[in-house]
Amino acid sequence: MKVIAIANQKGGVGKTITTINLAAGLEIMHKSVLVIDLDPQGNSSRGLGVDISLINRNIFDALILDVDINKVIRHTSMKNLDLIPSNLKLSNLESEINQKSLNPFSVLKNVVSNIKKQYDYVLVDCPPSLGILCLNALTAADSVLVPVQCEYFAMEGLAQILVTISKVQDDYNKKLSIEGFLLTMFEPRSRLGVEVAEQVRGLFRESTFNVEIPRNISLSEATARGIPALLYRPTSAGSLAYLQLAKEVIDNDRRI
Ligand SMILES: Nc1ncnc2c1ncn2[C@@H]1O[C@H](COP(=O)(O)OP(=O)(O)OP(=O)(O)O)[C@@H](O)[C@H]1O
Ligand SMILES: [Mg+2]
Repeated sequence: MKVIAIANQKGGVGKTITTINLAAGLEIMHKSVLVIDLDPQGNSSRGLGVDISLINRNIFDALILDVDINKVIRHTSMKNLDLIPSNLKLSNLESEINQKSLNPFSVLKNVVSNIKKQYDYVLVDCPPSLGILCLNALTAADSVLVPVQCEYFAMEGLAQILVTISKVQDDYNKKLSIEGFLLTMFEPRSRLGVEVAEQVRGLFRESTFNVEIPRNISLSEATARGIPALLYRPTSAGSLAYLQLAKEVIDNDRRI
């Protein structure tokens, strides 16, 4: 079982769309996948068809109230893709985690170690901050996938998350590796987008995925309808790009 955190403290860069559609791509390639929605916004839960206002069990029950993690897992419309949903009732999470545990960054890691079903991949969708939730994800993860929107100030954000990743590697999780940087919302006709993509590849050639995720309306439409784009419009440019990403992620493991 490989745990991949999808993280970037910048908002709206494509973390959630990537989590949902990478999960769907891996499922199509015959892998069993669990998505953990660690964002109080609950966007990946909704994007996988769960109405978070109607559910009574979520990741925070497992993290804070010691509810058995296996009882929080839900099925989705794809056979081998399961979900642990999120919820908005989170106001005191930080202090609750601090009170609950001597190792406040290891709570998710401990919970994940109790999952009984043997998933090939666990994808953790992080909120847009480097707070305690994201640190829990990085501590629990084998690797981190960083979506980078091909836009202004992308590089500044990257410097910050790289510092956080190396801190986590030093203090909490020596085995954490970088799965890859993923260029998102790429528009070949935008000069700025092309420049940002070149910059990222120039700096992180080895660890940038070959595939670029294009800006593609099918991706946002599918998410709004609560299904992965790979089910909604399987041959759209966005779907095909995420299928390619799934192949690259599987190939990363073959290389090791
Ligand atoms: N490749 C894409 N093509 C078109 N729209 C996209 C693409 N990727 C993301 N979007 C849209 O951009 C917005 C932000 O995407 P998403 O929710 O995945 O980002 P996020 O990083 O998870 O955001 P947050 O930081 O709020 O959690 C959404 O409205 C989504 O539908
Ligand atoms: Mg999100």
